[in-house]
Amino acid sequence: MNGGLGMPLTPQALEGKSLEALRDVILHGRDGTPMPPWNPFVSEAEAGWIVEMLMKGLPDAH
Ligand code: HEM
Repeated sequence: MNGGLGMPLTPQALEGKSLEALRDVILHGRDGTPMPPWNPFVSEAEAGWIVEMLMKGLPDAH
């Protein structure tokens, strides 16, 4: 979640960004970048759920 190819997707990094805009990036990708569209695999509601989870922060894996 700390970024690499793309920017970080931590709650701090996402703070203040539009939920709808982030959801649309997940669904449609971002032209001109390696971020691919996920809409063949996830619904709008599922993409919105992913954004909510990212904004809350995922639990530590360890
Ligand atoms: C579960 C899979 C993924 C999710 C949920 C996801 C989510 C996101 C989101 C929300 C953003 C926008 C962040 C922002 O604007 O602050 C983003 C950007 C980006 N993602 Fe993904 N992503 C995924 C997989 C991938 C994969 C597989 C790649 C490439 C191999 C990728 C490459 C990128 C890049 C390069 C950006 C930045 C685009 C830019 O420069 O504006 N992502 N991703």
